[in-house]
Amino acid sequence: MKKHWQRALVTGASSGIGREMARQLAAGGTELVVVARDAERLEALAAGVQVDVEVLPADLSHAADLAAVAARIDSDDDPIDLVVNNAGLGFSAEFGDIPIDRGRLMVDVNVAALHELTHAAAIALTRRGGGTILNVSSIAGDLPGPASATYNATKAFVTSLSESLHVELKQHNVVVSCLCPGLTRTEFQERAEIDDLGLPDAVWQSASDVARCGLAAAAAEKPIVISGVVNKFASRLARSAPRVLTREVARRTTRA
Ligand SMILES: NC(=O)c1ccc[n+]([C@@H]2O[C@H](COP(=O)([O-])OP(=O)(O)OC[C@H]3O[C@@H](n4cnc5c(N)ncnc54)[C@H](OP(=O)(O)O)[C@@H]3O)[C@@H](O)[C@H]2O)c1
Repeated sequence: MKKHWQRALVTGASSGIGREMARQLAAGGTELVVVARDAERLEALAAGVQVDVEVLPADLSHAADLAAVAARIDSDDDPIDLVVNNAGLGFSAEFGDIPIDRGRLMVDVNVAALHELTHAAAIALTRRGGGTILNVSSIAGDLPGPASATYNATKAFVTSLSESLHVELKQHNVVVSCLCPGLTRTEFQERAEIDDLGLPDAVWQSASDVARCGLAAAAAEKPIVISGVVNKFASRLARSAPRVLTREVARRTTRA
């Protein structure tokens, strides 16, 4: 990561990829505003780094909390020049078997909150003459996902929004980058109630490698980055193959 940001707001900084991004940014001297529901874990993160950290506990599915985070992005006091929209969740089951509250939560956090915070960041960073927005999507956003339809659709939204804004906001010196990880060892699978997938180690990445890849892409002002060689290869294959084939592979590889 060559570019230096003064102060970054990272959502989902209590765990996984977001916590690693926060630590790596802090190691490079970037001050932090860290957002998640679990305040204790955010405090523990703050205690373990050498830079100033504001702890901003928020449930991004709650309108008042979301508004408070948007207001922090907007504030010109101790201004933020990097916004990382990383918080997210998944759930794997047949569409009709997912309780609607759980489906709505995925849409609220992965889509609605990210949309609102990206909007706040676009306005604030444009007003301040520039900055960076890094949105965390998934390679799932490019793929049909039987038994993961809502999650995949939320990530398709994130990738599409980010790529459009990369083009649109360039004129205002605002960089929008999108990180698309594949399988990453975090708490995500356990929270999503996905059992051990029985996949080889080679398809998994560590949270720190994925975080480094995303921050490097944002520093290099790239529109989209897919983390990891295996994911890059699989994604390219899926994109270039006839869609009918992609759907058939998705059908056959979907767990019962
Ligand atoms: N792990 C993977 O295989 C994988 C693959 C592709 C993409 N991704 C994406 O990577 C991102 C980070 O996930 P991860 O793998 O690091 O998973 P994780 O370890 O489960 O971390 C998720 C983070 O999101 C936060 N979060 C969840 N719901 C929230 C809410 N309502 N309000 C505020 N914060 C909330 C959690 O904090 P609290 O619980 O403290 O609120 C936590 O810090 C997600 O967008 C995910 O979709 C992950």
